[in-house]
Amino acid sequence: MRTQVAIIGAGPAGLLLGQLLQKHGIDNIILERHTGDYVLSRIRAGVIEQVAVDLLDEVGVGARMHREGLVHDGTQICVDGARHRIDFKALTGKTVMVYGQTEITKDLMDGRAAVGAPTIYDAQDVALHDFSAERPRVTYRVDGATHEIECDFIAGCDGSHGVARQSVPAGAILSYERVYPFGWLGLLSDTPPVSQELIYVRHPRGFALCSMRSPTRSRYYIQCSLAEDVEAWPDARFWDELKLRLDGEARACLVTGPAIEKSIAPLRSFVAEPMRFGRLLLAGDACHIVPPTGAKGLNLAASDVRYLALALAEHYHEKSAAGLEHYSARALARVWKAERFSWWMTTLLHALPGSAFDHKMQLAELDYLFGSHAAATAFAENYVGLPF
Ligand code: APR
Ligand code: PHB
Repeated sequence: MRTQVAIIGAGPAGLLLGQLLQKHGIDNIILERHTGDYVLSRIRAGVIEQVAVDLLDEVGVGARMHREGLVHDGTQICVDGARHRIDFKALTGKTVMVYGQTEITKDLMDGRAAVGAPTIYDAQDVALHDFSAERPRVTYRVDGATHEIECDFIAGCDGSHGVARQSVPAGAILSYERVYPFGWLGLLSDTPPVSQELIYVRHPRGFALCSMRSPTRSRYYIQCSLAEDVEAWPDARFWDELKLRLDGEARACLVTGPAIEKSIAPLRSFVAEPMRFGRLLLAGDACHIVPPTGAKGLNLAASDVRYLALALAEHYHEKSAAGLEHYSARALARVWKAERFSWWMTTLLHALPGSAFDHKMQLAELDYLFGSHAAATAFAENYVGLPF
């Protein structure tokens, strides 16, 4: 088999890149280790920046998002029982879209099926070859038989545990990491959200987040220790702990119900540089992770693949290598901005096992955020998303 771009991974990064390449008339094949149903069973965050919304529209998969997604003009931050609002629209003129990543993945899969572009699911033992030469290859197994794809480029969109980044010689890549000493216990339930807007909660017992997927489906998180076992958290215990962290009004409005999903996720910041190695280009979680506090994971994947698709279009249609040469630096500039914001928001809102001084600094920083127009504007600009 032969294609122009072999894409590893059918998460949001790989699928969106596939759609963008289709639009530019560039052939591509996606190889995914799991089944489509498995990919769709993963519950991820759900806040989409305006620029990512525009990109989904551009590739023709935005219709359901506009019908079912919820446009949010602002967000609430609750500090030790007192609620504050950051008005994105007033401060920046922009809004965000609340729409589950699982739904975006489904819309992208449907979009890909509609144009008949090939995705090979259940591809085992994917291996990358010769990407430092002119003719890279990818091999994989399906039902025990080995296959090979010859291509011009390999796009590593295979997430943080994928094979693409691991195929790069250790001396050619630099990684930066911060592991936070806590995790998030998340619960999804078919109950109406406690508020029309997301509420980020800073409380001495730990961070909490009230989010949503629709007017009838809520997503809640509470900060927990990394040693926590999800089995030790029956629904009632989760709701009781959440209530302890909310303000009186939210506590009174909270509608509880059985969990549809409950899981613990660790929090991590990670960047691997550069994002290009010859004819291998990395994008999305394959080369950077943000803690979910700033809701930037999918948005960063979207900006990476936008730069990447433009670079590949330049290569094929204008015979120019400039876009590919600048891809890594251009994408990383935006990545580090989002890393900074996600790290800052994480350290601002979580109960840290640190010193009394750190605690006072958090409170002073929050006081500044709520008291300064400039600080609130900077927060809003970062949350709604910096320009591409
Ligand atoms: N071979 C083939 N596919 C692989 C391999 C492999 N060796 N390893 C991983 N994959 C697949 C995974 O099964 C997954 O479907 O790559 C895909 C990577 O998807 P994500 O982990 O979602 O990563 P990405 O697309 O970069 O996501 C960006 O969306 O899903 C969220 O948390 C994610 O916020 C992040 C954003
Ligand atoms: C979510 O809805 O899952 C969500 C929203 C905002 C975040 C993180 C997760 O910052």
